[in-house]
Amino acid sequence: MDAHGEVGRPGRILISRHEIAARVAELGLTIRRDYAGRFPLFVGVLKGAIVFAADLFRAAALPASLDFMGVSSYGAGQRPSGSVRLTADLSMSIEGRDVIIIEDIVDTGRTIGYLRRNLATRHPRSIALCVLLDKVARREVDVPVDYVGFAIPDEFVVGYGLDHRGYHRNLRDIAVLEPTEAP
Ligand code: PRP
Repeated sequence: MDAHGEVGRPGRILISRHEIAARVAELGLTIRRDYAGRFPLFVGVLKGAIVFAADLFRAAALPASLDFMGVSSYGAGQRPSGSVRLTADLSMSIEGRDVIIIEDIVDTGRTIGYLRRNLATRHPRSIALCVLLDKVARREVDVPVDYVGFAIPDEFVVGYGLDHRGYHRNLRDIAVLEPTEAP
């Protein structure tokens, strides 16, 4: 393989690009309704949420701003390492703002638990979480999720922002990673 090790192949499509687009449009409309008359700040969580954030931000079509935060929890493997690390901070103050965190996936809940605690110390007016994929069965930390795209089974998925070892984020569909063959 290459310097990044063995990269798995995307297999069966779990959620097609058409299903994603339809759901993102619905989520956008719901958020547009819920935040009518307000000027929320969408916070995309790097890197996985970048594609979803770009689409949802446009679908909501609100007078809103967009910023990003970098957080990393997974090691090189397919499971979270348990520790959460801030890799990039926001570029603006969120004091008094209505913040909507945009995540691609909630797995154990550690990342979003950390983010909610971190952002709460900055005195926003409100914090909500919009997640595209919710791997409910894997939850270890109880975190409130306000908007969910799809509940999914405990399978490693790639595409639409989600990666395996840095690859496959640019796939338009969400696919299940094929198991790597034993050497
Ligand atoms: C993934 C995903 C979430 C987090 C969810 O990020 O984007 O941020 O893991 O897992 P958790 O609920 O168990 O904390 P990852 O660390 O893979 O980084 P990436 O977004 O840059 O791919």
